Amino acid sequence: MAELKNDRFLRALLREPVDVTPVWMMRQAGRYLPEYRETRAQAGDFLSLCKNRELACEVTLQPLERFELDAAILFSDILTIPDAMGLGLYFETGEGPRFRKIIRTEADVAALPVPDAASDLDYVMAAVKEIRGALAGRVPLIGFSGSPWTLATYMVEGGSSKDFRHIKQMMYATPEVMHALLDKLAQSVTGYLNEQIRAGAQAVQIFDTWGGVLSGPMYREFSLKYMAQICSGLIREHEGRRVPVILFTKNGGQWLEAIADAGADALGLDWTTDIGDARRRVGDRVALQGNMDPSVLYAPPARIRAEVETILAGFGEGNGHVFNLGHGIHQFADPEHARVFVDAVHELSARYHSHKA
Ligand code: CP3
Repeated sequence: MAELKNDRFLRALLREPVDVTPVWMMRQAGRYLPEYRETRAQAGDFLSLCKNRELACEVTLQPLERFELDAAILFSDILTIPDAMGLGLYFETGEGPRFRKIIRTEADVAALPVPDAASDLDYVMAAVKEIRGALAGRVPLIGFSGSPWTLATYMVEGGSSKDFRHIKQMMYATPEVMHALLDKLAQSVTGYLNEQIRAGAQAVQIFDTWGGVLSGPMYREFSLKYMAQICSGLIREHEGRRVPVILFTKNGGQWLEAIADAGADALGLDWTTDIGDARRRVGDRVALQGNMDPSVLYAPPARIRAEVETILAGFGEGNGHVFNLGHGIHQFADPEHARVFVDAVHELSARYHSHKA
């Protein structure tokens, strides 16, 4: 494998010194880019794009051709696991993800297989290998998965939800069924991420998009516990380097101390948490990733730069910060504003890193 030319993302995740703060954007390959929309049209639809290694590689690299990003993220989706469990994922235009089969009962859970990632999700591994080859050591490649809780919300609700009625009913009325489902998902996610690491992913992120809809005790029992189980089962050293793990619970800011104990190297923050406070609370234990409100990209360049400076100053001097948006970039964001954001992070952060890497 080619030597990494830019490893500041991996170094920052391990709280090692860097020259400038590394930056990437959640959902950096996606609909805000006209070239993405073109490649998706060529593939036919979103899932066909995920399943075509050359085209998945092409869209992964598109944002890197435009912007000075410090990491690439595998182009795929978190719902590949339930799809591989036989639920039949499809996307209804304007409606988000849907499943042909929905999980509601103890029998439904018992019948679910734990997928064999190497064979059932071979198209994802093919994409990882293709992307690593094409990157040729330019920047590290991030692999990812959904958290067990977040995957379960889609499997039990049958798609996106506002009130999480069915899964909360399962959790409170039949907690043993809920735990059986989450345990199968934790095993599936562990196997899936380890296979991505073997295929070439150099860091992994677990997206817990819906952990924040739970109360504190329920979050610890039904989401965090399973992410900790995954952390303890992951390959942490590959190709002679540590493979950092990032946990991102959207709206999880009030539980950072507990999340920092789960065994990850870094925590993702959404914009509702003050990054300076977060650093004081857990910065001696984990690196922090985030956390500009993606809606700032709707503002003019001067406002974007000011917001970047506020977050850099909030984190302060020293190591352990990966800059990112607090959630995925919006489909209506102007790509030129994404450029302003990425360039501002590099330009304005140099003075916070006095000891050059
Ligand atoms: O960050 C990246 O660039 C990597 C690609 C990536 C996608 N989805 C591509 C995608 C990642 C990391 C995801 C994760 C994902 N998928 C999450 C967790 C992250 C988060 O946002 O909190 C969730 C909840 C999903 C499930 C999912 N997939 C949703 C809700 C949607 C949007 C449906 C819609 O029509 O609005 C998707 C589809 C999806 N995944 C798109 C992309 C680029 C858009 C599909 C398209 O091209 O139309």
